[in-house]
Parts: sequence; structure tokens; C-alpha cells
Amino acid sequence: MKSEFGLFGLGVMGKSLTRNLANNGFTVSMFNRHIKGLEEHVAINFKNEHTELTNALAFDNLEAFVKSIQTPRKIMLMVNAGKTIDYVIADLLPYLSKGDTLIDGGNSNYKDTKERSLYLKSKYIYFIGVGVSGGEEGALKGPSIMPGGSKETYDAVAPFLEAIAAKDKANLPCCTYIGPEGSGHFVKMVHNGIEYAEMQLLAEVYDILRTNENTPTDIANILESWQPLANSYLLEITIDILRKKEHNEWLVDKIMDKAGNKGTGNWTTIATAELGVPSSLIASALFARYTSFYKSDRVQLNTLYNKQTTKPSITTKDVYDAYQFARIINHHQGIKLIAVASKTFKWHINLSEVARIWTNGCIIRSSFMEELVEVLRETDSILNHSAIVKQVNLLKPKVNNAVAQCVLAEIPIPCISESINFFNGLTTANSPANIIQAQRDYFGAHTYQRIDDETEAFHHTKWIN
Ligand code: 6PG
Repeated sequence: MKSEFGLFGLGVMGKSLTRNLANNGFTVSMFNRHIKGLEEHVAINFKNEHTELTNALAFDNLEAFVKSIQTPRKIMLMVNAGKTIDYVIADLLPYLSKGDTLIDGGNSNYKDTKERSLYLKSKYIYFIGVGVSGGEEGALKGPSIMPGGSKETYDAVAPFLEAIAAKDKANLPCCTYIGPEGSGHFVKMVHNGIEYAEMQLLAEVYDILRTNENTPTDIANILESWQPLANSYLLEITIDILRKKEHNEWLVDKIMDKAGNKGTGNWTTIATAELGVPSSLIASALFARYTSFYKSDRVQLNTLYNKQTTKPSITTKDVYDAYQFARIINHHQGIKLIAVASKTFKWHINLSEVARIWTNGCIIRSSFMEELVEVLRETDSILNHSAIVKQVNLLKPKVNNAVAQCVLAEIPIPCISESINFFNGLTTANSPANIIQAQRDYFGAHTYQRIDDETEAFHHTKWIN
């Protein structure tokens, strides 16, 4: 008996996806490498731990693993992104047959996905790059899945991916064909960028509220009171985190304030710069993590500059309004980045569908995301939609005040403050970029366009005699 699907790599995500596939009635072959003393008998031990894996086939021998799968084979790779994927592909190739499909389910760089797909095409192997969001629990119970590659390849693996995906409110799978090449991994990368900013916004909210002398439990209670209007997975987990105690003390107070990262926020920031899209909250969130990492510098400069943080004179409602405003800007910027990439690379991405598959299973699922499914049916620019215009107009005065008060109180709020700066820039009809153009022309003869010349011709001036 050969199995229907192969899963290569039994790390946290690979294990959860394997169980998810088995729970959905698929027969699975699973493989994990054998490293003496480090990773021994991983697949067989895993099979023995879970009753749903009774019919699964477990291997640490690559050839036997590949041969145990029905042809044309479908093998999902759940290994670390980067060079490891290439090594795994090289190891697998000798055993694969023409027409087999490899599915990369890791957080791979979208440019690598395109190259791998071209390389494998030359070997008559299909390749699809699949973003998977939801962490360990999502992978087990239903993640959000973002597949990119050729439509035919997607159609071949769709029955598996759609079965294991989370379901939206209409019970449709949170998995949809994104587009060709590395578009699936691009969309997952932007998902993570939005995730970085949403996480940072909650950290800033926490910072403001704790400076206003709220305990972690008080803050959890405040965030809980926001749930009816602004629920999200990240808000939910932050409430749990703030309530967690160890030996009667809040655990959050014991956690070192140095944020790590695995690189996807970095890539999103590079992509947004390369594509000329000002997704500035993602960059601000990334740089806030980097700043946090300079712990010893922060401690030293705190003393050197005798930093005195004071209580900001803002209400909890103002904090909520500022948070919601910044979230609108964050989603606008992230979606804009996908829209521009889609146009630039001719991917034809359906933005409303992207929002739909992000309504469940993934880390950035939220009630606002559900609203965006409708908004993005009408426009690809969130800030242009009449329902959003109404919300922004109501929130704007509050965010102005919140930012001003936090600056006076010396509380760093890089993402909230960037949201209003970006918005003020984007709503300025006459920007000061005329000065930039003049400077460029002055020192580098880079030329400029004139508002009194309808031909849009480029001019150069000899600035000094
Ligand atoms: C998800 C997460 C997942 C992972 C990130 C964390 O959608 O399930 O985004 O991909 O948690 O890689 O990224 P950082 O380590 O960079 O925060």
C-alpha cells in the first residue's frame, strides 16, 4: 500500500501538519533525517505517539520514503528556509520521477521560490511555494495556506491543502490559489510584516498603559474590554500573556526586553523598499525589534541622558482609538505592498481573497480582517473606501493627541507615531518634495518637472552663476 502524500521534516510544524493530514483521512508517508545522538528514529517515535498515525508510514531512509508514495508524488517540505531547502531538493532529486510535485511549506524567500521552480522545471518536477500561517496549533487544527506556483500544480495538491486548512465563516477553506511564481511566499512574507507591526502596536499600547500605572492584569482587563469591537488573535494571546503568573508574580515582568526575529520582517522591509512602497509601519516595527536588542546601550544611555518617563495625559479610550487608527494604516500599507507586487510581477492577486484566507487560521486573523474582505472587493486601496474614511475621520483627532502626549511623556511609540506621520504625508496635496527635487538638480543635475509645464518634461537649472 502506497501513501497519498509525503511529509519531509518533522519539526514542530511538520509534525502538526502530518497529524492534520492524517486526521483528514489521508495516508501519509513521513520522513525525518537520522542524526546520531541528535535526531534518532524521529518519524517512528512520532508515529507511535499518536493513534491517528496508525496508518502512516514512518521513515528515516530517503529512498524508502520516496518509494512509499503514490506517483505522481506530492511531497511537502517542512524544513528551515534558506539553503537547507536546496540541499533537501538535491538529496530528493535522484529518487523522484518526472511529474512529481514538491511543496515548500516553509517561510522561504519569494525570489528563491521562483528560482527553485525554474530549476525543478528543467528536471520535469513541479514546485509550489506555500505560505503556512498559524503556528503549531494552527498547523494541527487548520492553518491559513497561501500557495503560489502554476495553477495546474496547485490544482493537483489543492484537495490536500484545502482539506487541512482552517475554514472561514462560510466554511470555505482558508487556502486559495494566490498566483504564479513566488507569489504565495510573497503574500506570506507580507502577512508576517503586518504581524510584526500588529505585535509592536500591542507592545506600544502596553507601554502607554503600564506608564499610566496599570498592572499587567489591569492592562489585560482593558484589552479584554476592546474585544467586542476590535478582536484579534494577537489581542487574545496578549491578554493571556498579561495574566500569566509564576509564583504569584507576573511572568511578563520577568521576560528580557530583547525581541528576536527569524528574518521575514527584514525581507518585507527590503521588498517594500525595492518596490517603492512606503510600508513604513512594518519597517518601524522591525527597527523597534532591532532597537530592543541593544539592551546594554539602552541601559547606559538611559542613565547618561537621565531619561524621565512621565505619565501621559491620555485616556484609555484615546489609546484604543490610536491603536485602531494605526491598525488601519498598517493593513492599508501591507495590502498596498501586495497590490503593487501583483501589478509589477503580473501575478493578478485577488486581494479580497487574500483577506478572506487571513480571517482564520493565521496569526493576523481579526474582526478587522473580516471587514477588509468586503472593503477589498471594491478597492485595492483601503484608505479610499468610504467605510474606512468614516472611521479614520473619527479616530484621527485622538491619535494626534495620543502621539503628542506620548512624545511629551517620553514614551517611544514608533508604530503609532509613524501611522499619523504617514497619514499626514499621504493626505498632503503639496508636499515639500519640490525642495528635494531642487537639491537633486542642484548637486547632481538630476532634473525636475514643473507644475507650470503640462508636458511633464524634465528641466535643469543652473542654480548659481
Ligand atoms: C505564522 C508566523 C510564523 C512564525 C514567524 C515568527 O504566520 O505562523 O508568522 O511564520 O511565528 O516566523 O517570526 P519571527 O521569529 O521573525 O518573529
